[in-house]
Amino acid sequence: MSAHIMVFDSGIGGTTVLEHIQKRIPNAQYSYFMDNALLPYGAQTQQTIIGRLCSLIYFIEQNALGVDLIVIACNTASTSALSEVRKITSIPIVGVVPAIKPAAEETRTKHIGLLATPATVASHYTHTLIKEHASKVTVSLYSSVELVALAEQLFFSQKLDTFKLHKELTRLRINSDIDLLVLGCTHFPILSNALQAHFNNSVQLLDSGAAIASRVNYLLEQHNFGNKFTDKKKPLQYYATANVLSNKLAIKHVTLIDPSQCVKS
Ligand code: SIN
Repeated sequence: MSAHIMVFDSGIGGTTVLEHIQKRIPNAQYSYFMDNALLPYGAQTQQTIIGRLCSLIYFIEQNALGVDLIVIACNTASTSALSEVRKITSIPIVGVVPAIKPAAEETRTKHIGLLATPATVASHYTHTLIKEHASKVTVSLYSSVELVALAEQLFFSQKLDTFKLHKELTRLRINSDIDLLVLGCTHFPILSNALQAHFNNSVQLLDSGAAIASRVNYLLEQHNFGNKFTDKKKPLQYYATANVLSNKLAIKHVTLIDPSQCVKS
């Protein structure tokens, strides 16, 4: 049996984090859980996200899926519900939050941007992060739900609606002084090439993927999961709360979870 890491997201964005973790820890066992019935999380209230996360994580623990560690690979879910989720489970939880600290340390123009969902941009957690780690630089906040939909579309259909993308980025009016743009939503790295093309490579994009992979590696060692590795891994198992229309071979075998069965009383 190898250490079993479950990566959780509202949709397919968490795969951008999963890739980093798999590269760093190739011989662990992986599963991917997407709560796509409630996608996008970024348009939900904090109370809705907390309730949903707690019931799904409770379901995962109670149903003996054999998970050793869960990565909530969703900035919206992490900034809204991380502390509440940790209270209801004994499974170690790693959250993914915007890379404000490294961006504030690396910026040359002293002006960084955060591109995230409306819920992440509005969250108390994000504002505390900025106050604690970026008080000496200017931080401009940009929120978009449309970019989440475009990333999902690109991932599943391999097609990007560039008209919609440019329209959305024009609406956001990203300040030209910004040299570092934090991608505070795990869906957005899927759009990295298109974003770079839009900005003519004038902005450096920063996500949390590599830092999360290091954190997961460290926690596996701390919890003594280090000796649970083996070469005989099961293939990546997918779970979803709604049907996944996928032309991707790897995502054809998905176990459907009914969220109404997951309620924690
Ligand atoms: C979403 O479901 O709105 C995207 C969540 C995120 O990664 O912040």
